[in-house]
Amino acid sequence: MSLNTVANDNAVKSDLFDPVKLGPFTLTNRIVMAPLTRSRADDEGVTGDLQATYYAQRASAGLIISEATNISPQGKGYIRTPGIWSPQQVEGWKKTTAAVHAKGGRIFLQLWHVGRVSHSDLQPGGVLPVAPSAVRAEGVQAYTQHGFKPLETPRALDLDEIPGIVAQYVHGAKCAKDAGFDGVEIHAANGYLLQQFLSDKTNRRTDRYGGSIENRTRLVIEVVEAVTREWSADQVGIRISPLTKFSDIGDSNPEPLYVSLIDQLNPFGLAYVHVVEGDTGGERHPAGGFDLQKLRRAFNGLYMANNGFDQQLALDARANGLADLICFGRPFISNPDLVERLRSGAALSEADQATFYAGDEHGYTDYPTLSGAA
Ligand SMILES: Cc1cc2nc3c(=O)[nH]c(=O)nc-3n(C[C@H](O)[C@H](O)[C@H](O)COP(=O)(O)O)c2cc1C
Repeated sequence: MSLNTVANDNAVKSDLFDPVKLGPFTLTNRIVMAPLTRSRADDEGVTGDLQATYYAQRASAGLIISEATNISPQGKGYIRTPGIWSPQQVEGWKKTTAAVHAKGGRIFLQLWHVGRVSHSDLQPGGVLPVAPSAVRAEGVQAYTQHGFKPLETPRALDLDEIPGIVAQYVHGAKCAKDAGFDGVEIHAANGYLLQQFLSDKTNRRTDRYGGSIENRTRLVIEVVEAVTREWSADQVGIRISPLTKFSDIGDSNPEPLYVSLIDQLNPFGLAYVHVVEGDTGGERHPAGGFDLQKLRRAFNGLYMANNGFDQQLALDARANGLADLICFGRPFISNPDLVERLRSGAALSEADQATFYAGDEHGYTDYPTLSGAA
């Protein structure tokens, strides 16, 4: 018996490891690398060889979603996060997309505007961050060039500024295309600008962007509409986190809000909806939540599930039809060959939290694969 046969006999049998169609692409498997901020861009938000190496090491994922990437200087909330608005940023990202494609991988860029989760230290001209309403995120710190600082009360956007926000998403989407990405993911999760508009905790507006569900979902739908004019809709995904508490976000009644959002997304024919199931990085079934499978059943495209998945949970999700794609975050940080490890049932390495958001190649490109290669 050859070694190959032995390996195959031990391999896990599941269509998790089989190719799947996503828009115009055939992904090599149903495993997705989650967007993971790693804060290693330069001060101008430019990425380069280091990020290209990191993402290429993880290109055996069926799909990679890039770390959240600022669509404008105003959209930035953390130092050393990358951007996708300047020519230098586009040139930098080309290294990553080329490196991932050379390994047969696919990569979408996550379009990011943080809204109130920023600080005047990080804003052009030292102005206050913007948000739907002047509601401060409690207990949240910004990581600025001067260290951690509590968030300030943001400035509520004027009605006539909203088309400019949509234009920032369009510009980011265009730049992502120029940089060679395979698609874009609209970040409407984790308490950032778009979720601030969705949620009644943060959206106290009395104009047509606040109040009713129809009004609170309006900006997200306008962004989707505008981005799908730049990209074929089947190369555009959206990330939502209906039950997260991340960055002090929350909604008094998330179920009708998100069911309505999904209903409104359906006509676009998006590549996927990406759902952070539960509290991001925490409880998958938080108190006061609702059954997120309602969203899966309501959505007429691919459903990508994330949050706390391990091998068994992922296999069960596929066996029971709970998701089309399974997205892993922290496991991909410390296991560049995560797909192979899940397939063979090998142990996973633990990620070192101290190097999540800072530094250089250490804790970034130096995690070994099973075969020992970094
Ligand atoms: C270091 C780190 C950075 C993250 N950065 C992002 C990000 O840029 N965009 C995003 O939508 N979520 C981000 N998240 C959340 C992850 O995408 C994911 O939802 C979370 O880690 C739960 O998945 P997991 O249990 O597989 O890690 C981040 C999480 C971690 C740990």
